[in-house]
Amino acid sequence: MSALRQKIEQEIRERGPLPFSRYMELCLYDPELGYYSRNAAQFGKAGDFYTSSDVHAVFGRLLARQFEEMWRALGSPGHITLKELGPGRGLFAQDVLDWSEKKFPDFFRALRYVLDERSPALRQRIEVTLSRHLESGRAALAADNRVSPPEIVFANEFFDALPVEVLSSQGSLRIALRDGRLVEAWTLASAQELEFLDRYSVHPEPGERIEVSLQGQKHMSVAANLERGFVVIIDYGYTREEQLAGRHRGTLKAIRQHSVGADPYEAPGEQDITADVNFTALAAVAEKQGMQTQKLITQSQFLMGIGEANEFSDAFEECRRPQERAKVALQLKHLVTPAGMGESFHVLVASKGVEPKRVSTLAGLGFGTRAIGKRT
Ligand SMILES: C[S@@+](CC[C@H](N)C(=O)[O-])C[C@H]1O[C@@H](n2cnc3c(N)ncnc32)[C@H](O)[C@@H]1O
Repeated sequence: MSALRQKIEQEIRERGPLPFSRYMELCLYDPELGYYSRNAAQFGKAGDFYTSSDVHAVFGRLLARQFEEMWRALGSPGHITLKELGPGRGLFAQDVLDWSEKKFPDFFRALRYVLDERSPALRQRIEVTLSRHLESGRAALAADNRVSPPEIVFANEFFDALPVEVLSSQGSLRIALRDGRLVEAWTLASAQELEFLDRYSVHPEPGERIEVSLQGQKHMSVAANLERGFVVIIDYGYTREEQLAGRHRGTLKAIRQHSVGADPYEAPGEQDITADVNFTALAAVAEKQGMQTQKLITQSQFLMGIGEANEFSDAFEECRRPQERAKVALQLKHLVTPAGMGESFHVLVASKGVEPKRVSTLAGLGFGTRAIGKRT
C-alpha cells in the first residue's frame, strides 16, 4: 500500500469520513506525497497531461501581446504587477517575459511578474527555468513579501486543479473506510453547498453528481480584490446555462498518462484529479468584488482575436524553412481550432477601474467584430 494511501486511511480513522475536497487535497497537494508536490514529471507530452504552453511558445507570446495592451489601457504605468496563479513549471511565464523583453520593451521595463505556485517541487523548477528573470528582479515567487498588489491576475488551468465537493441527490460525498477499502458515503449537504447549487449550478437528479467548488470561490475572491486592473482566467469549463441544458453535470476526472476516466480512488497521489470550472460562479464572485465581467469566449476566439492582426507572426518568428512553418502551423491549429484545445477551453476576462470602451476593444475580445481585411 502506498504511503499516501496509508496517510489517508489514518486520517479517516482519526477524524471520520473525509469530505471529497479533503481527499482530493491530500491526493494532489499533500506536502510530500501529493501528485503536484512530488515532482514535475507529470507535465508535458511524456507525463500525464500537457497544457497550452507545452504545445508552443505562441500561447505565452500572444498573451504577452494582450497583457501589453492591458497595460496601455491602464495608462502605461511605470510599474505593473502581473500575478500568475498556479504557474506549474513556469513555461508560460518564461514565454511572456522573453517575448515582452524582445517585442514590448517599454512594457517589459514596467513589468514585475509574480508566480504564485504552491508545489515546492514546481517552485524549484521555476527557480531554474526563470533564473535570469528572478535574479534581475523582473520575476518573483509569491512568498516574496516585497510583492506589490497586482494589476493583472492570470490563471491557466489553475481553477480546474482546486479541490471540490461532490454532491448527489443523497447529499455531500464522504470517503470512508470499510474492511480496508475506501468507500463512498453521503452526508447532509451544508448550507454553503446548497447555496452554491441554488445560485450558480443545478441540483443533482438521482444518479447524477455535481461538483461544488468552494475553494475556487475563495481564490477568485482574492484574485478579484484588486484596486484597478484585469483578471484573465483560461480553463475548460461551463456555465450554469449549459448545466440547465443537461451538459457538464458531473465532470470530475482522474487522469493518468493522457487517459481520462481512471478511478479517483485508485493510486492516490499518482494521478491527476480535476473538475471542469463553473464560470458562472467565478464571474459572480468577480462581480461581487466590483469587477465588470465580459461574455465568456472560447480560447479559439481569444487567440484568433490577438493573432489575426499580424497573421500569427508571433508563432513563426524562428521558422526558417517551409517544414518548420508547417510544424508550427499544426501546433497553432491545435491551440486554436475546435478539434484541439480551442473550443473546450474558455476565457473569462474581468476588469475594474478601466474605461469600458478600452476593455471591449481589447484584441482578445474583438474577434469577428472588427472590420479587418474588408472586401470591397
Ligand atoms: C494543472 S496545473 C497548471 C499549470 C500551469 N498553469 C500550466 O498551464 O501549465 C495547476 C497548478 O496549480 C498549482 N496550484 C494548485 N493550488 C494552488 C494554490 N492554492 N496556490 C498556488 N498554486 C496552486 C498546482 O501546484 C499546479 O502547478
